[in-house]
Amino acid sequence: MKEILAKPGFLTAGGTVGADISYLLALIFTGMYLFSWWLAKKAEGTRHHKLIFASMVAMIVYFVAYYYARQLGVLALEGKEGFGGPPSVYESVFLPILRVHLTLVTLGLVLAPYMIIEGVRATEIVEGKHVLKEGNLQIRSKTFRTILLTLLGLWGANQLFILLFRGASTGKSIAWALIFATIALVVSLEKGIEKLWPDGARRHRMLGRGTMVIYALTLVSSTLTYLMLYVIFPKQ
Ligand code: HEM
Repeated sequence: MKEILAKPGFLTAGGTVGADISYLLALIFTGMYLFSWWLAKKAEGTRHHKLIFASMVAMIVYFVAYYYARQLGVLALEGKEGFGGPPSVYESVFLPILRVHLTLVTLGLVLAPYMIIEGVRATEIVEGKHVLKEGNLQIRSKTFRTILLTLLGLWGANQLFILLFRGASTGKSIAWALIFATIALVVSLEKGIEKLWPDGARRHRMLGRGTMVIYALTLVSSTLTYLMLYVIFPKQ
């Protein structure tokens, strides 16, 4: 698999099959999200919701496959091996763009499930169509506590599973702790977000627009990264 992904690409002379596929998929997923924004603007709540679901499942499948196939190698994180330009451009232009890109990808990955859950909570079905329901939308304190305790329990069970069956490793434990801590943080942030926009429909529109802008910027930054690595400064 790794050999196939490293073969010369089909989009540009300097690209590889792996880089071209991953760029094309990023283009398709962002396109799907932005198209679903357009559907929401046209008050097509149900089609908006279905397309968001499909995009999210496709995006997660892609990320898992990407991790397995490329194992997020040096190229994905720092790009040093693939960057053929001068070191000053690498330090002052390429690395900042790559870091912004990775930050946007992480934010997008965290926001997508949050927005989907918020979307489901904030909508009702009227005459077979999804519509946002105006009015206060708040997690009850008991539900909030149950979610946090469930997360703690899941983290504990997972930690035990890793220790018993996958071999103890500090790296693995830290990575899982960070994943669970991020979910707990997002759940906790919901309390603050509720204060800012108590109305669930308004919250969905405001955060939804922010999320869509992040997706659009992710596409811009991934295009810049692709161009710098494989078109402007490919490794000779
Ligand atoms: C990543 C997830 C999601 C994002 C980023 C998102 C984003 C948005 C945005 C930006 C709008 C307002 C459009 C505008 O006026 O600019 C919107 C409206 C809406 N969304 Fe979502 N949404 C997401 C998930 C969902 C889900 C899961 C549902 C339903 C279960 C849903 C149902 C709706 C509905 C019904 C509207 C109102 C459409 C209308 O005006 O009639 N959304 N969404």
